[in-house]
Amino acid sequence: MEFEHVLVAGAGQMGAGIAQVVAGSGRRVSLYDAAPGATERGLATMRKSLEKLAEKGGSDPEEALARVTAVDDLVPADLLIEAVIEDAAVKHDLFRRADETLPDSAVLASNTSSIPITSLAAGTGRPDRVIGMHFFNPVPVLKLVEVIRAVQTSDETATAITKLAEDLGKVPAEANDFPGFVSNRILMPFINEAAYALMEGVAEPESIDTIAKLGFAHPMGPLALADLIGLDTCVAIMEVLHDGLGNPKYAPCPLLRQYVQAGRLGRKSGQGFYSYT
Ligand code: CAA
Repeated sequence: MEFEHVLVAGAGQMGAGIAQVVAGSGRRVSLYDAAPGATERGLATMRKSLEKLAEKGGSDPEEALARVTAVDDLVPADLLIEAVIEDAAVKHDLFRRADETLPDSAVLASNTSSIPITSLAAGTGRPDRVIGMHFFNPVPVLKLVEVIRAVQTSDETATAITKLAEDLGKVPAEANDFPGFVSNRILMPFINEAAYALMEGVAEPESIDTIAKLGFAHPMGPLALADLIGLDTCVAIMEVLHDGLGNPKYAPCPLLRQYVQAGRLGRKSGQGFYSYT
């Protein structure tokens, strides 16, 4: 399986980062987003990141950008990497449409952080060529790609996507399709517990984050990281863990829910555990 032309669906933070690393590997990218103006914003995000990397000896931003075309609908390609909003109905619809548009030989990959790949695969006529390709934010910087095998994913598909991840300069790690996979099964309870520590008055946000940063050598503390990911996304992933694993230990912390109700979603809304104004 060769992936010369990749369709990236979703031009937000993750989609733009994915389009950037795929274009940076010399491949042709079509970037699609249903929201007006989103592909333009995605291209601007890519340019900013590429310029940062060029300052440190990376290649000319124009070279990678020239390989990316904004498209206003799904187009045939060798591979779809989907990074649209974390909403099961939206992703199912996108996979159904991609299944109709992309050639039968194409692979359909999802960057979902928590929606079952097995159910996305079951909604297509090519379940053996559906897989999870979970990148980490910021995509141009973080090396990991969690490769998630649905129950139906063939060995051939898993091998080809693992090889592609390596070709993008990433380090693939394989996981099976259980709620939250590996990354969020570990990360989200950590963030959730930090929110409980704050809610119960154990410590202030700065103190909680400093303890994680300096005590466990994490690049950022759990509350700052939750702000980066988005508190709404954190709650949604905790709900997937809670529903899927049926254990009360995965219930979202009430403080997280309350912040989301208040519209304090983290960096993207200007306010989360910290203020970004
Ligand atoms: N593009 C290019 N370069 C970037 C960049 C981007 N988007 N973002 C940061 N950088 C570069 C900076 O230019 C900087 O380069 P130098 O060291 O050469 O100056 C370097 O990365 C470090 O950045 P900063 O100095 O701004 O700040 P930092 O040292 O705190 O690093 C960070 C920022 C890379 C975000 C780091 O804090 C980090 O790795 N944090 C943890 C992020 C994390 O855990 N992400 C996973 C979230 S979970 C997820 O994504 C999936 C999910 O399912 C929820």
